[in-house]
Amino acid sequence: MKRIYLDHAATTPLLPQAAEAMAAWSGHEFGNPSSLHAEGRAAKHAVDETREAFSEALGCLFGEIVFTSSGTEAANLALIGAALGNENPARNRILLGASEHHCVLHTKPLLERLGYRVDLIPVNHEALIDLNWLQDQAHDDLLMVSVMQANNEFGTVQPVAEVSAWARDRGVLIHRDSVQTFPGAWTVDEPYADLVTVSAHKFNGPKGVGAAYVRAGTKVAPIALGGGQEREMRAGTENVAGLVGAAAALRCHRENGSTTEQKRIARDAFASTLSAAFQPTVRSAPRLSGHHHVRLPGVDAEIFLIRLDKAGVSASSGAACSSGSLEPSHVMMAAGFSETEAREGLRFTFGFGVSESDAFRAAKIVNETAEAILLHRR
Ligand SMILES: Cc1ncc(COP(=O)(O)O)c(C=O)c1O
Repeated sequence: MKRIYLDHAATTPLLPQAAEAMAAWSGHEFGNPSSLHAEGRAAKHAVDETREAFSEALGCLFGEIVFTSSGTEAANLALIGAALGNENPARNRILLGASEHHCVLHTKPLLERLGYRVDLIPVNHEALIDLNWLQDQAHDDLLMVSVMQANNEFGTVQPVAEVSAWARDRGVLIHRDSVQTFPGAWTVDEPYADLVTVSAHKFNGPKGVGAAYVRAGTKVAPIALGGGQEREMRAGTENVAGLVGAAAALRCHRENGSTTEQKRIARDAFASTLSAAFQPTVRSAPRLSGHHHVRLPGVDAEIFLIRLDKAGVSASSGAACSSGSLEPSHVMMAAGFSETEAREGLRFTFGFGVSESDAFRAAKIVNETAEAILLHRR
C-alpha cells in the first residue's frame, strides 16, 4: 500500500520542476555569482532570476530580498541583525509571540546578552496571541515585535494585520515569520512588515534555502561576515542550485494557483473521519487550510506516531526531537496545556499530492491505530 505523508508543515516533497532546474546547477553549471567571467555571470543571472521571483511573490523591491541558508537563518538575521543595527539606545525592548518557532524564541538569550529586555506575548488555549495585552504595552522603548503569520503546530492564523497597524503607528519594527504561509495572497505591504522570513522547503522547493525580506532603510547588521554577498547583509557564496530550485517551485505554485482549497478538502475529509477519541486543539480560531492538530488523551504522541508510521502514515507531534525522544510541545505549553498533555499533541498537515481519498484512508488507519493502543490499555 502506498504510504500517506501528512507532515507537510515539517517539509514538503520536491516538485519535479524544481529537481529538474536544480540538476543543471548540480552538474554542468557551476559558476560563482561573484565572478566576472561567463560562468560567474550565468550564476549571477540565475540568482537574479530567483530574486525576481521572490520579490514578485512578496510584492517588494528586488534588492529587499536577502537569501539565507534556511528560514531559521532568515529569522535570526531579522531579529539579531535588527538588534545589532539599532541606533536608538532608548529602544531596548523586543516582544516575541510565546508560540513562535524556536528559530525566533531561541534568539531570546542572545538578544538579552546584547542588552535587550525580551518579553513574550501571551497566547490563549489555541495559540492565538493576546492582542489586548500587546496593545496595552508601552511602546517608546520597543524596538521590534515578532509575530508569526500562522503557527506551524496548531495552524492558528495570527492577527498580523492588527499587530502591524499597532506597531507601525508607534515606530516599532515588525518581523513576521511567514514560513508556513508563503507563497500566499498577501504582500509585505498588506499586512505591513519591515522584516519577513520565508523558507523554500515548505513550498515544495529544496531544503537549505531561505530568504529574509528586509524593507529598504531598515537597519539590519549582518550576522554572517565575509565576502559582502547579498548587499553586505549575508556573506557566503550563494547556493545557486538551491536558489534555482526554489524559484522553480515558487513559479509552479503561482502558475497553478493556490493549493488552499485542495488542502482544505483533504484536511476536512480527514478531520470528519477521525474518531471522537481525538480532541481537536483549534476549534474557533482561524487556522490554515492544511492543518489538523489534535490530542489523544492518555496516549503519548511518540508511541502513537511510531505505530502510525509502521501502519504507513507519516505525521508528527510538531514538537522538537532531541536525543531521540520527543520534548513536550512548547506551543502546547505556551497555550496552557500541562506537560503530560503537551506530549499528546498530534499534527496532521496536508499538501501537494494528498487526495481526498488518501485523507479518508489515512483517517481510518489513524482510528485503527488509536483503537489498538486504547484496547491494549483497557
Ligand atoms: C513557522 C516556522 N518558522 C521557521 C521555520 C524554520 O525554517 P527552516 O526549516 O527553513 O529553518 C519553520 C520550519 O519548520 C517553521 O515552521
